[in-house]
Amino acid sequence: MGKTKGFDKYFYYRKSVQAPKEDAKFLGRVYKDAYNKKAETMREDFCAAFALSCAWVQGGAERKALGVDLDPEPLNYGRENYLPKLKPDQRSRVEVYEDNVLNASLPKVDIISAMNFSYMIFKTRANLLQYLETCHNNLKEQAVLVMDCFGGAGVMEPNIEETKHEDFSYFWEQDSYNPVTNEALFHIHFKRKGEKKRKRVFTYDWRLWSLAELKDLMLEAGFHKVSIYWEGTGADGDGNGIYRRTEKGDDSVAWVSYIVGSK
Ligand SMILES: C[S@@+](CC[C@H](N)C(=O)[O-])C[C@H]1O[C@@H](n2cnc3c(N)ncnc32)[C@H](O)[C@@H]1O
Repeated sequence: MGKTKGFDKYFYYRKSVQAPKEDAKFLGRVYKDAYNKKAETMREDFCAAFALSCAWVQGGAERKALGVDLDPEPLNYGRENYLPKLKPDQRSRVEVYEDNVLNASLPKVDIISAMNFSYMIFKTRANLLQYLETCHNNLKEQAVLVMDCFGGAGVMEPNIEETKHEDFSYFWEQDSYNPVTNEALFHIHFKRKGEKKRKRVFTYDWRLWSLAELKDLMLEAGFHKVSIYWEGTGADGDGNGIYRRTEKGDDSVAWVSYIVGSK
């Protein structure tokens, strides 16, 4: 699954855009910030090959993870490639559901995470609000919803960015931006050394939501507090990978941040 013509697209996706261990650590910290205790259960929405769920259970023997995705292909990839790498005890603490995140009526959890901007498939206020309300209903009494978000002037026009790795390049292309609707189309391309570029390996048709809109919607969905985690700046002037709660971001051309709703 996912290894068409000898090209393992999920392998390159993971190497290019995912940092499951760091994300799992971040989720634990965010929960501790909110409730001053350790989280145990984490639901990974839009989980695809559920790499984050696997990293979550590796972080502690008391931890459980639930992954939810509509598409059986990445779920099977995770079952075949990531689950076997876990110890049997860790494996038994991961559950995966082939389901719509809007339908999901699953065991309540401490954390729901929606990473890599996947909720941006919801293009209307009503649909996004429905998703946030579903999350609110599926969280325990002391619990958080964590979503990442990106923006900056750079996302308001088409652009392409290449990231070079040792044996391949990853391309993140923004194909279009519609200022009337805030809709934008993105593609991921890969190029392995000595091979032709593999175009549009993944495509995302999204509405770009702002942090202010997300905050309003989370409050409307019933979350009592909403916090923004913004990346700090290193000595070189670039992001340092350390995210802290803030009320004020800086207006960089492109930024990634996290928004956290506490129940
Ligand atoms: C951008 S990928 C997310 C990958 C992963 N979460 C990550 O952090 O890299 C989006 C995933 O969302 C899934 N998806 C889209 N709509 C969904 C829905 N309504 N319910 C559940 N999964 C959905 C797709 O099948 C796809 O695997």
